[in-house]
Amino acid sequence: MPHPLPLSHRVVLVTGASRGLGHALTHRLVAAGARVAAGARDAEGLSSLRNALGDAVFVKPVDVRDAQSVRDFVAGAEDALGPIDAAINNAGVGQYKPFHEHAIADCDVMVDVNLKGVLHVCHAVLPGMRGRRSGHIVNIASDLARRPLANMAVYAATKHAVAGFSHSLLREVKGDGVKVTLVNPGIIDTFFGGSEPGRDEAWALRPEVVADAIVHLLAQPPHVVIDELAIHPLGQDF
Ligand SMILES: NC(=O)c1ccc[n+]([C@@H]2O[C@H](COP(=O)([O-])OP(=O)(O)OC[C@H]3O[C@@H](n4cnc5c(N)ncnc54)[C@H](OP(=O)(O)O)[C@@H]3O)[C@@H](O)[C@H]2O)c1
Repeated sequence: MPHPLPLSHRVVLVTGASRGLGHALTHRLVAAGARVAAGARDAEGLSSLRNALGDAVFVKPVDVRDAQSVRDFVAGAEDALGPIDAAINNAGVGQYKPFHEHAIADCDVMVDVNLKGVLHVCHAVLPGMRGRRSGHIVNIASDLARRPLANMAVYAATKHAVAGFSHSLLREVKGDGVKVTLVNPGIIDTFFGGSEPGRDEAWALRPEVVADAIVHLLAQPPHVVIDELAIHPLGQDF
């Protein structure tokens, strides 16, 4: 008798699914038996998921900076797939340059996507999860949620904020049967919009490797929560 797929029948929402880690994650979640609500702004990236994965995915453009856009995405996903069992806050943006060279508008975008986007999604999915006394929120932060790095001060600040939010929220909702996990990856080979064949895997993780670690988090038994996961390429100086 074959083992059942670890996520069969689960409905998982993923933001930032148009490329990079979110795109790879959507593929791996479907391979693990889940149905996925995949959102991002770029409709073309989302259609490629729909074309490849068919009815296992619901796709809808969403801008996580806009709370109403997030509520519409969650409502559309639940109409199409049913109640959301897990939500993965993966959408994120970063800039590598000294703080004094950032325009304030650039800072606003990082705060609005990396922090407020997480708040918008959690606010939209938590009432249903608490009502069902079951759910899992996974927030993709960064190793820069736990350490400083020159030229990434604003990005690091947003990711530190996500760390504080995630661990505090877990203490609020675990009594309602809802898990919260913080994921802190090191360098992922998703820079410049996609994987480059031949990139040294010891320097930059393949997105599929990080995706499989996230599937493992979701596949834990109901009474087990992994509250934080750090994952790095061995060659990274961390
Ligand atoms: N790459 C790394 O080395 C690394 C390391 C540690 C942590 N991380 C974190 O891992 C996550 C994924 O990173 P990645 O490397 O896969 O990035 P990526 O390839 O640049 O993809 C970012 C995703 O976020 C989406 N996004 C950006 N702004 C959005 C918005 N306003 N609303 C909705 N979606 C939005 C993008 O879609 P649209 O543009 O289509 O909206 C895209 O799908 C991020 O949270 C990042 O901070 C990355």
